[in-house]
Amino acid sequence: MLRALSSRTVQRARPFLRPFSSTVSQPGYVGAAQGAPRMTTDPVPKISMLLELRDKPGALHEVLRYFWKYDLNITRLESRPKTLNALGEARFDFFVDFESPSKNSTQVSSLLASLESMTTKAMILDEKDVNWFPRHLSELDLIANRTLDAGADLESDHPGFNDQVYRDRRGELATVAQEYVWNESIPRIDYTKDEVATWAAVWDRMEGLLEKHACSEYKSSFEAMKKHCGYSRENIPQQQDITDYLRDKTGFRMRPVAGLLSSRDFLAGLAFRTFFSTQYIRHHSMPLYTPEPDICHELLGHAPMFADQDFADFSQEIGLASLGASDEDVQKLAWCYWHSVEFGLCKEDGEYKAYGAGLLSSFGELEYACADYRPAGGTEERPELKPWDPAVAGVQEFPITTYQPIYFVAESLNDAKSKMRSFCEGLKKPFLSRHNPNTDSIWVDRPVRRAVGVPEKKDFAASA
Ligand SMILES: [Fe+2]
Repeated sequence: MLRALSSRTVQRARPFLRPFSSTVSQPGYVGAAQGAPRMTTDPVPKISMLLELRDKPGALHEVLRYFWKYDLNITRLESRPKTLNALGEARFDFFVDFESPSKNSTQVSSLLASLESMTTKAMILDEKDVNWFPRHLSELDLIANRTLDAGADLESDHPGFNDQVYRDRRGELATVAQEYVWNESIPRIDYTKDEVATWAAVWDRMEGLLEKHACSEYKSSFEAMKKHCGYSRENIPQQQDITDYLRDKTGFRMRPVAGLLSSRDFLAGLAFRTFFSTQYIRHHSMPLYTPEPDICHELLGHAPMFADQDFADFSQEIGLASLGASDEDVQKLAWCYWHSVEFGLCKEDGEYKAYGAGLLSSFGELEYACADYRPAGGTEERPELKPWDPAVAGVQEFPITTYQPIYFVAESLNDAKSKMRSFCEGLKKPFLSRHNPNTDSIWVDRPVRRAVGVPEKKDFAASA
């Protein structure tokens, strides 16, 4: 619901992540940019094998030496508790993952033949079908345009709905985002005088409040970005300049996007330390209000936080956990994201400070959430504060058009990260994943086939 501009106006953008329930089943794929090289397969495919061994000293050692003999590199070895067969003989099961280009290779055939006499069972396990996820940075091109709206199609109650010039501009910037390819420089936007004036109005309203209520990590990054990325009242910074700075600091990068993405697609970007960011700005008639994420929200709210190592790691942790996860777990992760990256608070010298972008880009809600006086943010009401606990936050519902009734408070950003990591480790995932920053690819600990929800693209190898 839109609100009139007032002291209570919820100026924050709707964060760039929709409640999962409204987005999970919407495909809306527009088509990815062409021409970029892509790595769609795991560079070293893995094979999983189940071995059943008799319970006797040295049985496992005997078996493992054949992997070495055939030069098959073991990447995981997992045992199961002892069992008894019908004759009362003890047996052990072992699961072994090893690297091999094919289960039909000569080496694997020789291994199976050798193991026949020394195991009671030796069988290759089929790959597990999982929800599709990008395995390489280039594959973000396949999801970046799966926006849930077209970016320029405004709702009838949007402040710019009747402004054709504004709508044309939105269309122009949506095209820039849709045509972006992962290994290119991010196009520079020549912002108009009106757009810079809108940015300046937001800057003026936020500056003093950020000094009072933003966490120290935000404030130090913001100061640095004034020096290095062109942040100023008179200039809207460029995504490429921010990316250059963040890459040096924490390895994070921005990536232009035309509109809202589903939770699954949005979180997948974070796994690559990539933040999908809009490039348009709110309508100049209501500079302190926006019904959707815009550059004021992305660049003032989000970008400075990605220069902090703990916060960057925290964000990537959520992204990695989302890869291939069930719909239910993606929703939990998306809700954790909402209650932290968007609306998180932390403690500092006995005061509550904001680290969530939904607060850092909203003058009313920032004051409402952090100030110890009332009225604050135009209301006498006080929110409920809960200690940061991803298990609770992941199932805590929230409104998207009003101030949050509940905020989660971390002891510190490091505390937020370590609790998030523990939570992610406890999720029942089909595989474990790691990001390799040198190759910008995702390593997984067992063979998987990305068979569910594959992006629609003719020349894309779906089963990689
Ligand atoms: Fe956001």
